[in-house]
Amino acid sequence: MRTLEELDAREKRVLVRVDYNVPLEGGEVADDTRIRASLPTIEHLLHQNATVVLMSHLGRPKGEDPAYRLRPVAFRLEELLRQPVTYVPFPPGSDRTYQVVQGLGPGVVALLENVRFEPGETKNDPELARRYARLGEAFVLDAFGSAHREHASVVGVARLLPSYAGRLMEREVRALARLLSGYRRPYRVVLGGAKVSDKIGVIQSLLEHADGILVGGAMAFTFLKAEGGEVGDSLVEDDKLGLAREVLARARELGKPLLLPTDVMAAEAIREGAVPRVVPADAVPAGLKGLDIGPETQRRFAEALAGSKTVFWNGPMGVFEVPPFDQGTLAVARAVAGLADAYTVVGGGDSVAAVKRLGLEEAFSHVSTGGGASLEFLEKGTLPGIEALGGWP
Ligand code: 3PG
Repeated sequence: MRTLEELDAREKRVLVRVDYNVPLEGGEVADDTRIRASLPTIEHLLHQNATVVLMSHLGRPKGEDPAYRLRPVAFRLEELLRQPVTYVPFPPGSDRTYQVVQGLGPGVVALLENVRFEPGETKNDPELARRYARLGEAFVLDAFGSAHREHASVVGVARLLPSYAGRLMEREVRALARLLSGYRRPYRVVLGGAKVSDKIGVIQSLLEHADGILVGGAMAFTFLKAEGGEVGDSLVEDDKLGLAREVLARARELGKPLLLPTDVMAAEAIREGAVPRVVPADAVPAGLKGLDIGPETQRRFAEALAGSKTVFWNGPMGVFEVPPFDQGTLAVARAVAGLADAYTVVGGGDSVAAVKRLGLEEAFSHVSTGGGASLEFLEKGTLPGIEALGGWP
């Protein structure tokens, strides 16, 4: 992967793919973490008096839906950079965008419109990639959160221009690579979230590295059912039971514990303020759904994590967005943050939100801006975006 150190950006027009896929509320940016994370690259380029042309996706719009315009992001970026940002409201591959960009001088920052307004973006259309490539003399990929997407603004354009990894991209890859080699033991992994199918690849990969895996969230019920447990009305992927059995068998073969919840907070429905019942995880009564790990599991998970020297955590332990089913996730956040002298990495929307809610970001060694991207990197050791920049050893 070539990095910014190798780019002489002086007086050049540099096209930068960032990941400004941020939550909006009432037309304003509700969480600017990803915008802040892009500042080191932008500031580095501005120091070299480059013209900085930023592009990003936002959400998954069907066509040019005004709700997915990047204007609110441009406003927030202006505040953070403390300098004007030229927002270019046309489709990013259009001639109109090209004309505006041609007229930008050195030291200017521009933000193009949502790349997903272009129908060819997610298909990695070569003609669209060529249209993007005319917007810069060099390309910087700093959208770590999107580096697993084989899209025109990520990999297509990278193959057409001299291309470099931005500061965030570099920081993320270095931080995550430490989970695949040279790690200190004991090394433990905490995985949660709704679906086993989203995590199976990373479980298989990390089982080979880690000394144990703790599984919470709804995905635990697929494992519990695969072991013969009664899971009531909890979410289960019935078509993944075989796969879950294979993973459990592999963990046994390697002699590595794959810890499942022993108790869960169960309720009839996901409702804020519901009064849940604590029930055994493998004996959830019919009519009830397990919606969070229970107090005994919280304690067991904290005990299992104690003494770890390396921890990776991705995914909530319950329905984090609906209290009181956020308690298990918050307990894991506290347990990981409390580990002394450990290398701790957290990735994924809800788990990062839990860490932030408790103000514990500083207690983690690395808080990743990528959910899917970090999982795919840990599964495969690389990403399409990394490969487009020349690969990672
Ligand atoms: C993310 O938020 O995970 C990234 O921005 C990628 O978004 P996507 O899943 O819509 O490609």
